[in-house]
Order: sequence, then structure tokens, then C-alpha cells
Amino acid sequence: EDTDKGAYPYYMLKEIDEQAVVARNIAGHYFDEDGNLQGIPCAVTDAIEAADRLYIVAAGTSYHAGLIGKRYFEQWAKIPTEVHIASEFAYDQPMLSEKPFFIFLSQSGETADSREVLDNVKKQGYPALTLANVMNSTLTREADFALPVLAGPEIAVASTKAYTAQVLVQAILAASLGNPGFDLKAELAKVAVEIQAITDEKESFKKIAEDALKDQHSAFYIGRGLDAAVALEAALKLKEISYIQTEGFAAGELKHGTISLIEEGTPVFALLTQSKTAGLLRGEVAQVAARGANTIVFASEELAKEGDAFVLPQVNELLMPLLAVIPAQLVAYYATLARGLDVDRPRNLAKSVTVQ
Ligand code: G6P
Repeated sequence: EDTDKGAYPYYMLKEIDEQAVVARNIAGHYFDEDGNLQGIPCAVTDAIEAADRLYIVAAGTSYHAGLIGKRYFEQWAKIPTEVHIASEFAYDQPMLSEKPFFIFLSQSGETADSREVLDNVKKQGYPALTLANVMNSTLTREADFALPVLAGPEIAVASTKAYTAQVLVQAILAASLGNPGFDLKAELAKVAVEIQAITDEKESFKKIAEDALKDQHSAFYIGRGLDAAVALEAALKLKEISYIQTEGFAAGELKHGTISLIEEGTPVFALLTQSKTAGLLRGEVAQVAARGANTIVFASEELAKEGDAFVLPQVNELLMPLLAVIPAQLVAYYATLARGLDVDRPRNLAKSVTVQ
């Protein structure tokens, strides 16, 4: 086991660091040298184009990746897309459109909740595609189609590179169905470079984590739009390994309840990468700061202000989740280390949950 980790103390840190290479591998697999998409069979795009609505079904971190992918399918491919938690969908199926198409997102390809939904929708005769990191898994075998997510083996219970890989593959699939309006291959090359640049700043995140989280019992991640979706994943990362109770949510909801939880020193991380709502989010950061919160802002270059904890390199706004999640992964890692816990093996959790 140790040899696989190389010089790394934990798999999680190794897997965080691998994300730049993963991004390059995915681009290498799905684009040819001239920048044309490859590796997505026409049968897949034809089946999706015949549908009137996409239903992304997943659990945990993969569900959070689906929340990002929804934007690509809607904005680039112009296909209405819903994202559902597998364990809910299985027993509370929403009313479906006339021609639904299902996309299962899964690192392991074995999650029982997602398998249950796949069984159900197959019985109803609907087409399904699985995007999985482990190919030749139950979900890839039993769906009509499967595409690889190509993150490489992920060992740490807390998923990191599988999330970014799932976001990347969804972006590529959506681009094959529509038009992002920019050169996706070139922009993804930039994303890989900037992921590397952020993972090179480990000391900054170690300090942020130690200062803000070492002795805290609770924390918050807020954002709007895509950043609200990333906030859910950021909060899951922090809570699942550090045991700090962390809520991630849409910043506009603060005033409807959560703001009453803010006390002197409560850490509130704000993800600020979406220009349309940057002003509103700045207001929300000021509101929690005025109530004593320790605000830590991760802002994109174009939206950053003095006093922000970290400036994220600028890429296309829709791809900013690929960068915004990295500081959250590193903060979770270093907060957990600072609390003397086993980063790779949090209590009560399994890497793959094969029972419902
Ligand atoms: C478990 C893992 C999570 C993962 C979830 C879904 O809870 O600990 O990291 O996100 O299962 O797993 P899947 O393999 O379907 O992505």
C-alpha cells in the first residue's frame, strides 16, 4: 500500500495532486490532435439527441458533480436536465418527460442506490448511459452505454479526482451535443495548468485550515449558482473527514435561517467565481462578517478584492468549479491532519456503498 502512495503520507493528497494529469489524460482521450472530439460513439449522441430531457442520477460526490454537469447540458447542448439523488429517485420517482434519457454518474460503478434506479428505469424501457471511473462495473455493464471517466484508481474514501474527472467528462459530452461557444480543448488545457498552480500552493491552504478550523465545531461554505453547487461538495469534503459539522448552501438562503447560527469566529468560506451574482455574494459575506464570522473568500481573478484569502486563476466561468473545488479539498485535508485524524479512512464510511 505504502509503495502506491509513493512519497505521500495519504492517498487523498496524492489524488488531489493527480488532478492536473487527470485533466490532461481526459482531454487526450476525448480530443484528437486537431481538437476534434473523439471517443463518444454516435450511438450515444444519437440516443441523447432523441431525448427531450436528461435525468442525471448519482450519490454523494458524484451527485455534486452532476449538479455542475447540468449547466453544460442545458447551456451548451440546450437539453433540459434534472439531477437526482439515487436513493430518493429509487422510491419517489418524479414525473418524467415523454422521452427521458438517464445518465448515471459513479466513481465505483457499484453504488446500490444508483443500481436500484438503473434497474427501475430499464424495466420502464428508458435508455441509460453510465459515466464511471471503474469500467466493467455493474453500472457500466447494465446501462445501454458507458463512457470512462478516466480518473485512475481512487483509494481515499473522500473523493477528489473522480469529482473533477466527472465534471470534465460531462463538459466534453455536452460539447459533443452542442456548442460551448469557445475552444473547449484549449480552455481545458488551461484548466489543467491552473489546477497544478493551485495544488502548488499547499502551504497557503494548510495555514488557512489550521488558522480557521483547528478548534472549530462547525463551518459553512456559501456560493451562488455554480458556486452553490461547489459549496455542497466543499462542505461534504470538510465534514466527512474532519468531523467538523459543515453546511454548504446557496448564499441567498442565509437570511432565511442559517445566519442565526453565525457566532464570533464561525468560519464561513465563500466561493466567488460567478460574475452575475458576485455583488450579492459580497453583500452576504459582509453580513456574516458583521455578525462575527471569520470569512474566508476564494474568488476568481476577475472578481477578487483585497482581503480575499486566495485568488483563483481565471478560466471560463462555467469551468471555474474545476478550480474552485481544489482549495476546498486541500483545506479539508489539512484541517483533518491538524486534528490528528486519519485522512484516508474516516470513521463509519466506505469507499463504495453496495447496500441500500
Ligand atoms: C460513497 C463514497 C463517496 C461517493 C459515493 C457515491 O459514499 O464514500 O465518495 O461519492 O459513495 O459513490 P459512486 O462510486 O457511485 O460515485
